[in-house]
Amino acid sequence: PGRPGAAGLAFGPIAPVPASVDAFSVPSGYQWRPIIRWGDPILKGAPEFDAARHTAEAQAGQFGYNNDYLDIISMNRSRGVTGGVHHEGTAPRTRDSKALLVANHEYTNENIMFLPATDPATLAEQRRIAMAAHGMSVVEVRRKGAGKPWEYQRRSPHNRRITMSTPFAVSGPAAGSDLLRTAADPSGRTILGTINNCAGGTTPWGTVLSGEENFNGYFRTSGTGRGDARYGLRDAETGRGWEHEDPRFDARTPGNENEPNRHGWIVELDPFEPDEAPVKHTALGRFKHEGANVIVAPSGRVVAYMGDDERFDYLYKFVSTEAMRSGTRKADRAHNKTLLSQGSLYVARFRGDSPAEEIDGSGRLPSDGSFDGTGEWIPLIVDGVSHVPGFSAAEVAVYTRLAADTVGATKMDRPEDVEPSPTTGRVYVACTNNSDRGKVGKEGATEPNPRVANRDGHVVELVEAGDDPTAMSFTWSLLLVCGDPSVNGSTYFAGFPADKVSPISCPDNLAFDESGNLWIATDGQPGTIGYCDGLFKVPLEGPERGRVQQFLAVPREAETCGPVVDEAESMVYVAVQHPGEDGSFADQRSRFPDYLPAGAPTRAGEFAGPRPAVVQVWRG
Ligand code: FEO
Ligand code: CA
Ligand code: CA
Ligand code: CA
Repeated sequence: PGRPGAAGLAFGPIAPVPASVDAFSVPSGYQWRPIIRWGDPILKGAPEFDAARHTAEAQAGQFGYNNDYLDIISMNRSRGVTGGVHHEGTAPRTRDSKALLVANHEYTNENIMFLPATDPATLAEQRRIAMAAHGMSVVEVRRKGAGKPWEYQRRSPHNRRITMSTPFAVSGPAAGSDLLRTAADPSGRTILGTINNCAGGTTPWGTVLSGEENFNGYFRTSGTGRGDARYGLRDAETGRGWEHEDPRFDARTPGNENEPNRHGWIVELDPFEPDEAPVKHTALGRFKHEGANVIVAPSGRVVAYMGDDERFDYLYKFVSTEAMRSGTRKADRAHNKTLLSQGSLYVARFRGDSPAEEIDGSGRLPSDGSFDGTGEWIPLIVDGVSHVPGFSAAEVAVYTRLAADTVGATKMDRPEDVEPSPTTGRVYVACTNNSDRGKVGKEGATEPNPRVANRDGHVVELVEAGDDPTAMSFTWSLLLVCGDPSVNGSTYFAGFPADKVSPISCPDNLAFDESGNLWIATDGQPGTIGYCDGLFKVPLEGPERGRVQQFLAVPREAETCGPVVDEAESMVYVAVQHPGEDGSFADQRSRFPDYLPAGAPTRAGEFAGPRPAVVQVWRG
């Protein structure tokens, strides 16, 4: 590990793909195939996908929509997941011929999933289908051997759908508190469902963490409750209209007032325990969680890094009170699954080291040649005890944004994935964009967020003091200031010549390969630099540091998600989310991934429109 930049998966970068192209593009010498698509049956009794006769009951047994977080986890537990050797985005993970694919289903695009409903019963069923298409999936996959493509198993005792009706346990300081109680759950300890699950992370003990992100969009509230404004909760009909089908989405109704407090958490799912309730970990705070990625500190305590994906919101980390056990006995694993239930929650404050007048909002480098500086982790909760005056620990957990507002945290440009490198421990923060920076009444440029109207985003590299993830202070610098350098003078690629890189915009999901290279998936390039979103490799060491190279492009209007890079097998996996999202059911703009001829009849198992899918890319 840690070999300099030239190492890694061999490929020639692809040219950027114009935003109107409906193709999945890979480098010369590589091929691709979907492993599983929206609507593929995974539970017993579930029918083949049939877009013309879709039902909520069918969807509840089928792979959901808009897959975001993705991992392929070896079923060889002695090697892959229990010994503390499994790291997000790195092998060993897939040498075997059996694995579990875990994917999040963030949201639905009703406009391309359905013909517009003309009667109330059809509209209600479409809402119930959409509800069942949210959540998570666990699916067994098999193959003939290492390096061969995977096929999903339609029948497996491991296959599982998590939806809005799945019971979750609750851990941490808000479990059982008044703030989580509802008429249907007076204990405040059992929550039905998970929504808007965006990115995530696989823990060293082989469970999957998933971030509940834009949960506010699913609830109608009084609009005047504590935190409503800060969390974007309003008294207005929601876009999806679920409040018309289930009163718990209408927090104005008696007994449902706290329902929005029961979402916006990091959830932990054990894919190896199909009958076990997943857990919502309130110790990790409540905000628009992009995801969470865990690294083990020298003391054995585990640290989870997290972003709150909102303009001007914050970067957080959680440090467990207890240490991880690296044994492989069942009791060790059970212990490790309690680590995220108690610990300390911190929010980041960044300080730049250049004079403020040199940070003029243009993105021009300051005279010291770098956007960089120092920072500290401000405690919100320490070992379960609140450190925020006026807030109990339960209140810090539920109203984390309000608590962080009071302690002087640094407003960032929409922190998405935050991932520690398993090779170096350095932490990478994808700040995807912030079109509001510098607008009237909003904060202007700061050294860690140096562009006003930040359209293209940037990536922060953070080094914890003493290389210890539990440290209270850090140094930082911007690794990338994104954009298309051929037309944009405010880009920066860690000093690598800008005319020798792939253009990149709106960094979102991150991963690492075994050589320590960073991989970046993008979300939003069509609207910023005019190219389809894609997956990019960036060496972090040696003379190639900062050399962004595009590996693949997803079809028009799609976002690239969940990258997994298996360098030893020259195998890459991505989740393709919302292809053709700007079309309609009658006028589809994408036919990914099956590319059936236009106007082809919609037979059972076939669909002329797009189906979000998990794709494998391999050499051969
Ligand atoms: Fe669902 Fe922050 O992206
Ligand atoms: Ca500086
Ligand atoms: Ca994202
Ligand atoms: Ca995004």
